[in-house]
Amino acid sequence: MMKAIGFKEHLPIESKNSLLEFETPKPTAKGHDLLVKVAAVSVNPVDVGVRKNGRGKLKQPRVIGWDAVGIVESIGSKVSLFKEGDRVFYAGSFKRPGSNSQYQLVDERIVGHAPKSLSIQQTAAMPLTSLTAWEALFEQLGIDPYNHNTNSTKTILIINGSGGVGSIAIQLAHWAGLKVIASASRPATIEWVTKFGADQTVNHRQDLVKEVRGLGYKYVDFILELNDLDGHWDEMAELIRPSGCIASITENRHPVNLRKLMQKRAKFVWEWMYTKSFYQTSDMVTQHQILEQVASLLDKNILKSTLNKTLSPINVQNLKKAHQLVESNHMTGKVVISALE
Ligand SMILES: NC(=O)c1ccc[n+]([C@@H]2O[C@H](COP(=O)([O-])OP(=O)(O)OC[C@H]3O[C@@H](n4cnc5c(N)ncnc54)[C@H](OP(=O)(O)O)[C@@H]3O)[C@@H](O)[C@H]2O)c1
Repeated sequence: MMKAIGFKEHLPIESKNSLLEFETPKPTAKGHDLLVKVAAVSVNPVDVGVRKNGRGKLKQPRVIGWDAVGIVESIGSKVSLFKEGDRVFYAGSFKRPGSNSQYQLVDERIVGHAPKSLSIQQTAAMPLTSLTAWEALFEQLGIDPYNHNTNSTKTILIINGSGGVGSIAIQLAHWAGLKVIASASRPATIEWVTKFGADQTVNHRQDLVKEVRGLGYKYVDFILELNDLDGHWDEMAELIRPSGCIASITENRHPVNLRKLMQKRAKFVWEWMYTKSFYQTSDMVTQHQILEQVASLLDKNILKSTLNKTLSPINVQNLKKAHQLVESNHMTGKVVISALE
């Protein structure tokens, strides 16, 4: 048996049973699966959303958590990318039990070898947000990370630069050679995004059109929207250059007016980090490749961990604290919960 933390009811985080610890059978690795002994996890807005949104009582507790670092304890018969004892990091699948448990099964094709030079806490901060930012920039927006000559002539606006995804998206866009305008609304977050490579900042609490135009840009080539698609839609439609491209990782609550992009023939694309594992796409292994690349860039100090707060050990109380921080919608960087070392 093993310990896990999950929920049976969709309760406010302050409720006693919003998250609870329970015992469940330790799973066995088969096929492409790794069985990982979890050492540290992080909390993302998706944890809050899945925990809070829904009705009724589940028969079995649902284990959430989509970021982990740990050691491979055993491997399935088809595993070729990892061996027992490897230190790994991953976000995992939306369809399977999450990382808030002592052991977790995860498909090797969405796992990377952990960076060698980072602590478990610095590492656990990275997988979900790095995969999201990488796929949004280099797959969905179509930016070639290695074409610095072209990229150096282009500007990207990143809306929500200081959150988990923004903090790594800024670094990746900067590494690719783009000029980066990041949104941040407070002195501390302006400092944070600048440290990670933002060339200029705008305030998402103000009119973004005025803010960006105030910096001397009529239009920007790319926009990466990371908080409140509805709220920023009109500003983005105004700011995107003709034939430019907008990517969003947040769901709209109301229909968006696509027509606003018609005359500019601007493109709009979605990013969902879970798509590849959810649909078992033929390119699922690209998440392994992205994580390997991110680990290498972290080891070379080209990318830096976005860890901002650490809690320990992994228990209900600390997971609740982390959920509360993320729920505030003012998180800077990432919060990680680690086992006692
Ligand atoms: N599609 C996907 O695959 C995917 C993957 C990851 C995340 N997401 C979603 O993307 C969003 C961001 O995730 P995250 O982990 O980066 O979140 P996060 O770390 O919780 O983001 C917090 C940040 O949001 C900023 N913010 C609050 N209101 C804003 C607004 N109206 N406009 C711009 N920024 C605002 C806050 O800045 P201030 O305090 O300065 O206001 C704060 O620093 C969440 O909705 C999450 O569910 C989607």
